[in-house]
Amino acid sequence: MAYDSSSNKMNINWYPGHMTKAKRDLSKHLNMIDIVLEVIDARAPLSSVNPDFSPMFQGKKLIMVLNKADMADPAVTARFIEYFKNKGITAVSYSAKQPDRKKLMDCIGKVAEGIRERYVSRGMSYTVRALVCGIPNVGKSAIINTLYGSKKVTVANRPGVTRDLRWIRIGDYLELMDSPGLLWPKITNRQTGINIALLGSINEQILPEDDLALYIIDLLKKDHPGLLMERYRLSSLKETNVEILEDICSSRGMIIRGGEFDYERAESMLLEEFRNGKIGRFSLEEPHDD
Ligand code: G4P
Repeated sequence: MAYDSSSNKMNINWYPGHMTKAKRDLSKHLNMIDIVLEVIDARAPLSSVNPDFSPMFQGKKLIMVLNKADMADPAVTARFIEYFKNKGITAVSYSAKQPDRKKLMDCIGKVAEGIRERYVSRGMSYTVRALVCGIPNVGKSAIINTLYGSKKVTVANRPGVTRDLRWIRIGDYLELMDSPGLLWPKITNRQTGINIALLGSINEQILPEDDLALYIIDLLKKDHPGLLMERYRLSSLKETNVEILEDICSSRGMIIRGGEFDYERAESMLLEEFRNGKIGRFSLEEPHDD
């Protein structure tokens, strides 16, 4: 991986073999798919869109599901829904942790209606098939579980865990197909790389944890200082990000023998707490066109 912190360019050439295979397998099923539910992370909706999908799924109805909305800034999520709407894309916010199943089913139902009506008007039944896809860790399995109504579908929490393609019956007209998390071969935008690493969609080895943790501190310091101070019981925020990290070490008792700060433990903790939404509700990006 080439990483240049002074520019917005990076070159992540990590593309595991199983993703190439999964993409090939998916291509074989394309003719069976009516709707594509692309799951993205509401905290970074643009960074978590897979740019390979749009050419691959041309001609299919698309619904963008901004999942994990329970962890995102609700005002930013609302702006993203509007942003997608202005581009003519159906988008819905969702949380598989606090699921509003009816809202998502209504959204799918509306799109499916246009597909089913010509069959139903002739007295025929038609099963609408929707593919649930997205980059790793955005909540594809969790969403299917909420729609299915039980924890039937295996949840894999590591990026890169392969799952086979299969159809899951939901209600009387809909089948969903689960698919493994897919990335695109080259991540060239540095900000996108950072965001999807923070979301836990690429393996930790690709972007160093210390950079990511300091990035989170920096973002919070600028945009949500209150969240940072409250979560880590800090009475003020020091000048530099490293000093803030050291204060977090002190506050959490992350000190190793000899009185040294345990930076690594604090960095991992920060990232984990961000991924689980423990720091509070905030988003990594705002809608933008570039
Ligand atoms: P994937 O299929 O796209 O790879 O994602 P998956 O459903 O496995 O979800 C990845 C992690 O994100 C899981 O956490 C899951 O519980 C969590 N998650 C999914 N949707 C939401 C959501 O809307 N809100 C929140 N807050 N979390 C969500 P995990 O820690 O990896 O697993 P577990 O501890 O839940 O078993």
